[in-house]
Amino acid sequence: MNGIKGKVIVVTGASSGMGEAAARHLAAQGANMVLGARRAERIEAIAAQIKEAGGTAIAVPTDVTRRDDLIRLIGTAVQTYGRIDVLINNAGVMPLSPVERLKIDEWDQMIDVNLKGVLYGVAAALPYMTAQKSGHIINLSSVAGHKLFPGSAVYSATKFGVRAFSEGLRQELKPYNIRITNISPGAVQTELLEHISETDIQKANQDFVGAVGVPADSFARIAAFVIAQPEELDINELIFRPTAQEL
Ligand SMILES: NC(=O)c1ccc[n+]([C@@H]2O[C@H](COP(=O)([O-])OP(=O)(O)OC[C@H]3O[C@@H](n4cnc5c(N)ncnc54)[C@H](OP(=O)(O)O)[C@@H]3O)[C@@H](O)[C@H]2O)c1
Repeated sequence: MNGIKGKVIVVTGASSGMGEAAARHLAAQGANMVLGARRAERIEAIAAQIKEAGGTAIAVPTDVTRRDDLIRLIGTAVQTYGRIDVLINNAGVMPLSPVERLKIDEWDQMIDVNLKGVLYGVAAALPYMTAQKSGHIINLSSVAGHKLFPGSAVYSATKFGVRAFSEGLRQELKPYNIRITNISPGAVQTELLEHISETDIQKANQDFVGAVGVPADSFARIAAFVIAQPEELDINELIFRPTAQEL
């Protein structure tokens, strides 16, 4: 056994970037994958490609800002495969901007997706995991959940928040044999910067990530490593960066 084969793994934000890479990689290792994201046609195409390659996957259109969508996502995983072993709360947005520009709708979006989306995912999965007395929740924070840089104040607030929530979960879920891993990536080449509306901030970040960013399958390999550990071992905090990244 490779520690992954046969596990039921739900990934939010599986339509692009790190979530897509993780879905493909974990499916190739024998996991039963459940893909959630808003762009239904993308997750359906990825699930179809996984199946063509001999893997197992289903797609469940999901907006993580809606509690009911997460209840349906996790519920479909359990109905289809009989249990849920791992939830990867990966969906996220990063419309960076200086606070003084008051992009308040974007602040709301980051709080709703990056922070409340994680809370809703956990709320939907916990009843099954506590009943099973097993499970693994992987939350995506960021190097920006440890450090600040120009334009990151609100994004960092959400990612510091994810990290705090992960540690709280870790402490509280001991009686249920549930593992909690907070992963903080550095610069990874994905679609994340495409949604930055402030062009000066977008360009600075594109220059930075373009220069040092590593491919999304870096995260996929790390997620597989974390999931594959024996049940008595709980990797709680993991930061990875491109070797060339200073921040
Ligand atoms: N790339 C980096 O350098 C980096 C560094 C540190 C941390 N991160 C974190 O890594 C995670 C993955 O990001 P990525 O870099 O792979 O970016 P990405 O390619 O833009 O992927 C983001 C994913 O989140 C999904 N998403 C956004 N809003 C959503 C919503 N309301 N409901 C459901 N899904 C939603 C998107 O799918 P739909 O649009 O189809 O819904 C997409 O699949 C994020 O949490 C991000 O903050 C990234």
